[in-house]
Amino acid sequence: MRPLIRTACLRARVRAMATLPTTAAFSSTRAPSPCPSPSRARRLLFAARFLPSAPPPPAGARAFRTSAAAAEAAVEVGGVKIAREDVVKEDDPTNNVPDTIYSKIGLQLHRRDNHPLGILKNTIYDYFDKSFPGQFVKFDDLCPLVSTKQNFDDVLVPADHVSRSYNDTYYVDSQTVLRCHTSAHQAELLREGHRHFLVIGDVYRRDSIDSTHYPVFHQVTVFPRLYLNVFKTRYVMNSIDLSRIQMEGFRVFSPDDWSGSGMDGTAYAATDLKKTLEGLATHLFGAVEMRWVDTYFPFTNPSFELEIYFQGDWLEVLGCGVTEQEILKSNGRTDHVAWAFGLGLERLAMVLFDIPDIRLFWSNDQRFTSQFSKGKLGVKFKPFSKFPPCYKDMSFWINDEFTENNLCEVVRGIAGDLVEEVKLIDNFTNKKGMTSHCYRIAYRSMERSLTDEEINDMQVRATELHYTMIFKCCLDLIGF
Ligand code: PHE
Repeated sequence: MRPLIRTACLRARVRAMATLPTTAAFSSTRAPSPCPSPSRARRLLFAARFLPSAPPPPAGARAFRTSAAAAEAAVEVGGVKIAREDVVKEDDPTNNVPDTIYSKIGLQLHRRDNHPLGILKNTIYDYFDKSFPGQFVKFDDLCPLVSTKQNFDDVLVPADHVSRSYNDTYYVDSQTVLRCHTSAHQAELLREGHRHFLVIGDVYRRDSIDSTHYPVFHQVTVFPRLYLNVFKTRYVMNSIDLSRIQMEGFRVFSPDDWSGSGMDGTAYAATDLKKTLEGLATHLFGAVEMRWVDTYFPFTNPSFELEIYFQGDWLEVLGCGVTEQEILKSNGRTDHVAWAFGLGLERLAMVLFDIPDIRLFWSNDQRFTSQFSKGKLGVKFKPFSKFPPCYKDMSFWINDEFTENNLCEVVRGIAGDLVEEVKLIDNFTNKKGMTSHCYRIAYRSMERSLTDEEINDMQVRATELHYTMIFKCCLDLIGF
């Protein structure tokens, strides 16, 4: 079924998507980006020629070989121990996971009952428990290390899809990634025989850094893009590179379910899906106006997005659809139909709790954490950071190897969560065809004033590192 295109904005998105395979910026056939750090310049150039091949065993079944010291420092997720060396592999040219990302693994904010993300998760659980007593099984600590097969192939992501590129996904090695969506677990759970399930967990994407501070918050043209949809928003820069928490819902029907309904299986599942999710939106937001927008995901057809009219604007709440038959057939459910949905918890929590900055979810500051308690959805956050951002500019000539994600990773590697936004403010091409970019970097702490000295120091180190990488890429390219 061809999606109906209802809004100008969606039309623009669909058009952009249609150009994905041919445009340099979004084509996954383009060489994956090089050089997230100087030590990686060479291996990432190698990675540019690398293509993922045969799948490894499922991540859950894998035993990581770690030294005793590393094992001690390891984090545990769902019974799997993950040490730094399992994820950050300096000597593996196919690895692009930085320490800043490793440090997020295992934190599982959604499993803290007093945290806004935990409170929201539990509220969604309550809805499914009340609407479908005893039916939905919940998985909230599945290991985020999955095979490329699980993350992509099992859910029919095309071989040349941009989300598979090194620029977009964190590869642990050629066949293992940090999952970029919770849909990575659909197939294994189906094979295990589950028919109703909710999967919630941290997901990871390489992305640009964006301001999500208060002034931007109400600009809906920007804010809805915070929703994590790796299959559609590749060309949108408004997102931030932290791990995020995503929830996936899945329901399987057998022919008995729809035989008396006068509908075919697909129509029956789509109707049930819409009714279920409208109920969920009402449970979370109250009696709000809603609309359905047709969209695209590789693993569902038809596919939809649900938007609600909230605080004066249309807000995208989730993506969903009727599962592709091929997925059901390959995983033991021939003759069945199913629906699936996926939603990003942060953006809903930001709206429901009035939280202005996505970085706050990671804060251990008592002034943040003490404001929320178990079972209390919608308590309004009282801002405590009055600290102003500090802006620094960085300009340089770019070459074919340059990508914004790599620049962001350099800056983040040095400034961590103190960097709020990396924004292109000038793009100039001279008569010889050389292009220079100027980026403005916003530094801000939610918890304290930053000194001039430390900001200057971070900026100098980021600039030096970035230049070193460009220089090293050039040497590598000419085979020096
Ligand atoms: N996996 C999708 C994403 O990350 C969300 C989704 C899940 C959409 C299930 C449809 C069905 O963007």
